[in-house]
Formats: sequence, C-alpha cells, structure tokens
Amino acid sequence: MKTINTPFKIKGLQLKNRIVMAPMCQYSVEKEDGIPNDWHFVHYVSRAVGGTGLIIMEMTSVTPEGRITNQDLGLWDDSQIPAYKRIVSEVHKHGSKIGIQIAHAGRKAEDAIQPVGPSDLQGEALAEETKYGGLKQPRALTIQEIKQTIEQFKDAARRAVEAGFDTIELHGAHGYLLHQFMSPSINNRNDEYGTDLSKFGIEVIRSVKSVMPEDMPLIMRISAIEYIDGGYGLEHSLHIAEKYKLAGVDIFHVSSGGEGVPGTLKPGNYPGYQIPFARAFKEKLEIPVIAVGMLDNPQVAEATLSNKDADLIAVARGMLNDPYWSLHAIREVTRKVTPPFQYSRGIR
Ligand SMILES: Cc1cc2nc3c(=O)[nH]c(=O)nc-3n(C[C@H](O)[C@H](O)[C@H](O)COP(=O)(O)O)c2cc1C
Repeated sequence: MKTINTPFKIKGLQLKNRIVMAPMCQYSVEKEDGIPNDWHFVHYVSRAVGGTGLIIMEMTSVTPEGRITNQDLGLWDDSQIPAYKRIVSEVHKHGSKIGIQIAHAGRKAEDAIQPVGPSDLQGEALAEETKYGGLKQPRALTIQEIKQTIEQFKDAARRAVEAGFDTIELHGAHGYLLHQFMSPSINNRNDEYGTDLSKFGIEVIRSVKSVMPEDMPLIMRISAIEYIDGGYGLEHSLHIAEKYKLAGVDIFHVSSGGEGVPGTLKPGNYPGYQIPFARAFKEKLEIPVIAVGMLDNPQVAEATLSNKDADLIAVARGMLNDPYWSLHAIREVTRKVTPPFQYSRGIR
C-alpha cells in the first residue's frame, strides 16, 4: 500500500492526494498593483491539471510596503479579489484544492522606501540575492503599527476567504516578519512584543482565524532552525509552535532558515534535508505536518509519507521543472495514474 495517492482530510479540507505545490514567488506582477495576471493563472492552473492535491499560492503581501518587491502579489484591497477568484475557480475544476500564503516581508522588503521590522537590526543578505546588493536599514514598528499590521493580516485573510481559497498559510518562516518577531537574534524589543517572542504570531493567528470559517484549517510555515550564527534551534521553534498551535494553527509546514544573514551553519543540500524537522514537529506537537525540501524524487516523497515523518509533502523546484510532477510521481510510485482524459495517451 502506497501513501502518496491516498486522500487526506483535515476539518473541511479534503485532498485527493498527499502532494502539495510549495509557495513560490513569481515576481510577475507587471503593474505593481499586487493583482495576479495571466502568468499566475496559467502557472497555477497547470499544476492543477498536473494532478496536485493542494496548491499553495506564493507569498502574498498584506500591505504594499510588506512586499519583497513591487512585482509581488498582494491582498491589501478588495479590488484584488476577482483575479484570485478566477484562479481558484479554475483550479477547482481540475479537482485540486488551493490555499494562499499571506505574509509581510518586514526587514526583507526590498522595494519599500524604509522597511519595518520588530527592531532596527539590519539583515545583510547575500549580495546576489537582492537587486540592491543587500537589505535596507529597517525601522522598528511602533506598538500602534504592530496592532495595525495584525489587522492587515486579518483583512487579507478575509479577502482570501472571499476569493474562495480552501485554506490559508501564514508565512512564519524564511526571515519574514512573523519569523523576525519569534527570532531572539532579530527581535531585541524591550516591550511585550520582545519579551514574549510568540506574542505577535499568536495575535496574527487569532486575528486571521476570527475571519476564517470554522472548518477551514490554518497552515503556518515555520523555520524549524536558523542558520545565522547564534540562531535558534529546534527546542525554541517547538516551544513557540506549541503556543501557535494553541492559538489556532492546524498544520505546520516545516522549513528552515532564511534570516537574511549568512552564518557558518548551512542548509542541507541532499534529498529530504528537512525531514528530521518535520518529524520532530509531528512527534512533539501531535499535529499534521507538511515536509518540504528536495523531495522531488517520488520514492523519497513516498518514503517520507509511508514512514509517517509527515502527512503531506511539498515540492517547489520540482514543480517548476515539471508541471505534471504529481501525475508522474503517482505513476512512478503506484504504477497507476489517471490523468485528464485529454492527456491519457501520453501519461499512462
Ligand atoms: C522560485 C522560488 C520561489 C520561492 N518563493 C517562496 C515563497 O513565496 N514562499 C515560501 O515560503 N517559500 C518560497 N520558496 C521556497 C520553496 O517553497 C521551498 O521551500 C524550497 O524551494 C525547497 O523546496 P524544493 O527543494 O522542493 O525546491 C521559493 C523557492 C523558489 C525556488
């Protein structure tokens, strides 16, 4: 019995298989209005045609200033909703479910005049990773601005629900604002948002949950460890995640790193390098998890699921390489696949 093509259900979210398309920024909004265009439509619908159980749309900002670049998607205005609706309804026609990753880049916002963060500590970033050869000097958010940002997360979640998304993922990983607040190396505030490193995350979780239907699960992406020198380890992320779970997170999507400052420790560069983190989250928190990171070998993906290291596996670069990755992986693992009838003479 293979697991990759078995259904998965949590609350009202029913998936036809265990395969998730990981969120991937496309930096393709031409008019700087945060609205998805035909590129996004084709990109996401192709992966639905390709048999993916759950598609998670790329990092989508809750404010214009919270974008990494001005070419990023946004959900800060009701006028943005219809373009998302169009993608969601087409994806549904192919039997896939779709979520959206909502986020604020914080100090990693590259095009903001002055980025904001929990503190004024500046990330360095590898020069080749940004257009500007580094990150800008951020400004610490005031308490009033923190409260406003929490409201902006809530408004974006309300718009995502209105657009018809099946789930929402909070981007709490990769050195963006939610991660910045929970990181002792980045958050040096003296007020309650610094003395309690989970406070901002908890308030964001509660606020988005307040506008999500009761049976819609909330996913949170989290960096299980940091690679910055002196950064946090698993014990810290599990401690914070326990509180996030109590606040309302239903699934953790377990990644690592992204602080925007190179450290001596480096992420693994081998299949399944983040599986131990997913397993630790699943065991310790007794909650469904999505594993991610070089799982594009279908047998490695299947092993991750069958060994119960994770409930779902996410694939990013593998899906750029092959929009039909899910159908091909199911075929390889189970020797049986049902493609759209139009493709049945090619994928069998
Ligand atoms: C082009 C590209 C864009 C990405 N954008 C995002 C993003 O918007 N949000 C996010 O959480 N991770 C992002 N990631 C990270 C992926 O979701 C994933 O965690 C990472 O690539 C490891 O998975 P893989 O080995 O299957 O590629 C991006 C990765 C790539 C390659």
